[in-house]
Amino acid sequence: MSWVRVAAADGIAPGDYATVELENGFVAVFNVDGEFFAIDDVCTHDGGGLAGGALEDHQVICPRHGARFCLRTGKALTPPAYEPVNRYATRVVDGMVEIEDGQ
Ligand code: FES
Repeated sequence: MSWVRVAAADGIAPGDYATVELENGFVAVFNVDGEFFAIDDVCTHDGGGLAGGALEDHQVICPRHGARFCLRTGKALTPPAYEPVNRYATRVVDGMVEIEDGQ
């Protein structure tokens, strides 16, 4: 496990997101009311990107077919997705968002 700096915290406004590429693929980092959440940027239904999906509370809605995922747990909340997405712990250090890699 290691912490990886991914973006300046003030570079991701509330309601916005950033994507970063790690060794195992892309991760989407969302700002929900100043709190950061990171999940794999791959929908477990059919592989669509989740970055850019609408945010509602602590859920992201897949832009392709509308499955919802909990940003806190990664759990799939509505069909057509049933499997969770990987999520990553986040923290802010010196104004930079970091995610815990190596899950
Ligand atoms: S690819 Fe996400 S709901 Fe189908």
